Amino acid sequence: MYKRIVIFEAEGGSDKCMNGHRRDTRPILNAIKEKDWDSEVVYYRDEWNDLIFDYVSNKFDGYISRINPGNLPNGEKVYFETLRRLSDVGLVGMPHPDVMTQFGAKDALVKLSTTNLVPRDTYAYYDIQSFRDTFPKSISYGVRVLKQNRGSTGSGIWRVEVIDDREHKHGDSLPLDTKLKCTEALDNHVEYHTLKEFMDFCEQYIVGENGMIVDMRFMPRIKEGEIRILMVGNEPMFVVHKKPAEAENAFSATLFSGAHYTYDRPRDWPELMKMFNDSLPIISEKIGGIDIPLIWTADFMLDYDENGNDKYVLGEFNCSCVGFTSHLDMGIQDHIATEAIRRIEEKHKLKAVTNSPVTV
Ligand SMILES: Nc1ncnc2c1ncn2[C@@H]1O[C@H](COP(=O)(O)OP(=O)(O)O)[C@@H](O)[C@H]1O
Ligand SMILES: [Mg+2]
Repeated sequence: MYKRIVIFEAEGGSDKCMNGHRRDTRPILNAIKEKDWDSEVVYYRDEWNDLIFDYVSNKFDGYISRINPGNLPNGEKVYFETLRRLSDVGLVGMPHPDVMTQFGAKDALVKLSTTNLVPRDTYAYYDIQSFRDTFPKSISYGVRVLKQNRGSTGSGIWRVEVIDDREHKHGDSLPLDTKLKCTEALDNHVEYHTLKEFMDFCEQYIVGENGMIVDMRFMPRIKEGEIRILMVGNEPMFVVHKKPAEAENAFSATLFSGAHYTYDRPRDWPELMKMFNDSLPIISEKIGGIDIPLIWTADFMLDYDENGNDKYVLGEFNCSCVGFTSHLDMGIQDHIATEAIRRIEEKHKLKAVTNSPVTV
């Protein structure tokens, strides 16, 4: 073991401060050093991939990725290949590219639709035909939210409501000229379209790399806010309560759209914490039998169960570049360092056990 962890960052971007790093990166690096390990920040560029691989694979036991792969100039492909190569030669990936893809993708919801975290009638469309076949029926049941996979901060996330006077039953496949009111979470702006127009427009979300649309029922209690848990491994660190703006059509919990944020402690949300903690094993199993990310978030919305009690519904996970600058004084960096080192040491222990000669 080298007792060294590399932190990958991308150059530039508005999240960097005067030393060129994200504000919450140096604190992680220092926390690792305080534990008598070493750490270094390496800037990632596609054209340096072999150089980075050689340098990192001979010097470090694991990496922490602090890059939004969607923002890299040429996309995620070469970056993910590099991370995969590093994992293949034994570095502990925090996270491994498969974890980033699978936890970060919107269809994680669909994989969990057989659990009580997500409504059962949550669907993913990976091709245009299945979207055109199923969406006209799913919208007959009530207001839906369509989510594209590639966006963030509410871009391509649409609340879709039928405003047609014609009667219909649940399960009918609604005619293509059905009138819809469509509200985008990016800025809560409203557009009116026929079903056909809107489905034509949404095709852009399905074509191309990682294209898909997730179709989920609208949760009206989003008005009361989205509840984000920031996790380090399987430990909750803090909770952000994001209340959409008071405006008539507002359902978006993004800052840009005017939502209001308050920060709570995990112990202020005991039922949610218990429910989520109990669900962690099933989450990592259903998402693909993979490790839980190192730094990640889970977003919830309120709903009622059959007895009228509060219930929490999962909205999405984020794990590729989660920041915690707002909470540096809480020592989250310390938990990150401890957990990263624990993961590396555990891997080495396992390796030692498997490699040890069998003595009779
Ligand atoms: N099923 C839903 N019911 C009500 N509001 C939703 C639903 N899904 C998403 N939203 C709202 O839309 C916003 C953006 O959706 P989200 O899935 O978080 O995508 P993004 O990756 O853009 O953040 C959420 O913050 C929430 O306010
Ligand atoms: Mg979100």
